[in-house]
Amino acid sequence: MRFLITAGPTRELIDPVRYLSNRSSGKMGYAIAEAALEAGHGVVLISGPVNLDPPRGAHFISILTSDEMYNAVHRSVRDCDALVMCAAVADYKPQKFSTTKVKKRDENLSLELVPTRDILGSLQNEDRHFLVVGFAAETNDLEANAQKKLHAKHCDIIVANDVSNSNSGMESDENEVTILFRNGETKNISRAPKKIIARELVKIFTNT
Ligand code: CTP
Repeated sequence: MRFLITAGPTRELIDPVRYLSNRSSGKMGYAIAEAALEAGHGVVLISGPVNLDPPRGAHFISILTSDEMYNAVHRSVRDCDALVMCAAVADYKPQKFSTTKVKKRDENLSLELVPTRDILGSLQNEDRHFLVVGFAAETNDLEANAQKKLHAKHCDIIVANDVSNSNSGMESDENEVTILFRNGETKNISRAPKKIIARELVKIFTNT
């Protein structure tokens, strides 16, 4: 199977020295890429800026902003059998990029933000021959919120994880996930290293 996996955060540029981003470490996405490679699959990995080495054997595409990730996914998606959107894509970006450094002043500063394009949402009308896996990072009402995303983003599978504590989810080496399928089935994978979770996920994706 040919996997297209996204991982890590995006950076939304304010000026030449500043950006908005999030705490995503990329560990879950990279672990899925490694598990897919281990299982003999092909992997294209589109990654935001993280402190991890690209998995050997993956076709690696490095991006910075949500717009770059959007374009990279659209360029590669038709050649994949499974899209795994593990990246923590920023939901907002500054309305304007200042080409010169914004100078400090003795007053409050407001930053006008505009929504970024939803990458998963943008794939709904395409003639899809590939499995679409979304992730849901939630701090509350995990299953209900994930269920909404499954339908709103036209996913075949949503992998939901609780990011409200530091023992699992963002930045951690461990995770605990609930997997929601379109037919209403759910499956839990209890707390384990992300590498172990990734192997389980790849098995599930290849059997769906
Ligand atoms: N996602 C995307 N494009 C965006 C934002 C998110 O494709 N601009 C994808 C993520 O990669 C993930 C899924 O949508 O697979 C859910 O992301 P999440 O951050 O949990 O949800 P949001 O849609 O951003 O909603 P909210 O922040 O309100 O929970």
